[in-house]
Amino acid sequence: KEVRVFAPATVANVVCGFDVLGFAVNEPGDEVIMRITDKPGITISKITGDDGRLPLNPDKNTVSVSVKHYLQSIGRADIGLDIELHKKMPIGSGLGSSSASTVGGLFAIKTLLGDTSDPINLLPFAMKGEEMACGHGHADNVAPALFGGFVLVRSYEPLDVVRLPHPKELYCAIVFPDVDVPTREARQIIRNKIQMKDAVTQWGNIAGLVSGLFMGDIDLIGRSMKDVLVEPVRSMLIPDFYKMREIAMETGAVSFGISGSGPSVFAFTKDEETARIITQKLQKHLTGIKIGSQAYVSPI
Ligand code: HSE
Repeated sequence: KEVRVFAPATVANVVCGFDVLGFAVNEPGDEVIMRITDKPGITISKITGDDGRLPLNPDKNTVSVSVKHYLQSIGRADIGLDIELHKKMPIGSGLGSSSASTVGGLFAIKTLLGDTSDPINLLPFAMKGEEMACGHGHADNVAPALFGGFVLVRSYEPLDVVRLPHPKELYCAIVFPDVDVPTREARQIIRNKIQMKDAVTQWGNIAGLVSGLFMGDIDLIGRSMKDVLVEPVRSMLIPDFYKMREIAMETGAVSFGISGSGPSVFAFTKDEETARIITQKLQKHLTGIKIGSQAYVSPI
């Protein structure tokens, strides 16, 4: 018995919602193939698309480790499983690469075992995978990778996840500048004390963004996507971040910001063509400063 699962890339934070907002895109994404075997224990027989960066050792790979936790929780730790992981997006890009693989693995085992319970039960295991990948078990990538669309993590303790609507015409342009920004480090540089006036600005923006999503008001979404807490620090890790913002906004973007912990950046647009032109201009700019890049355009 074998299943094949696709899990999408995700944009976490969505500019103003650090650790609480995220959405999934149609592409890129990872594929997990999982089969039941006769020999108890988990093996990873193949990983492609990772340039040899991910461990085949099932005790060190976030996919197998989170699947193992799931199996222990349902008393099936004795089962034999083989996993193939096909990475179809860059690692360490800020696009929820580890989340996509982990969610793909968990959804695969749930399907293989005919577990019909609410997929939300997989979230704590997926968050364990995040913790292993970057030292912190946030849910703003794994939750949208699991459910699709926009997701709000209303609370971590207890875990309370809310699926949000969004205007159907929203497109997302993503550009990954090929520089190294490990999430672990991008989290370490964030200030852990903030000023009340900045908090007021931030929660006004988060509330504005969520209202805009419900009301289908793209202009409100655009003017709410501002971040006074995290972006001013993390933007330093991204080449020409403010120049890229200027290019995107001049080209007709609704908003522009860092995807997750970066270095990927993303823009919202009202149509596919504008999103495509933005990716072309940003890639051209990056080539001009000798930085390679990859780009994606997707409806949300
Ligand atoms: N919310 C997380 C962060 C997403 O910004 O660090 C990255 O995994």
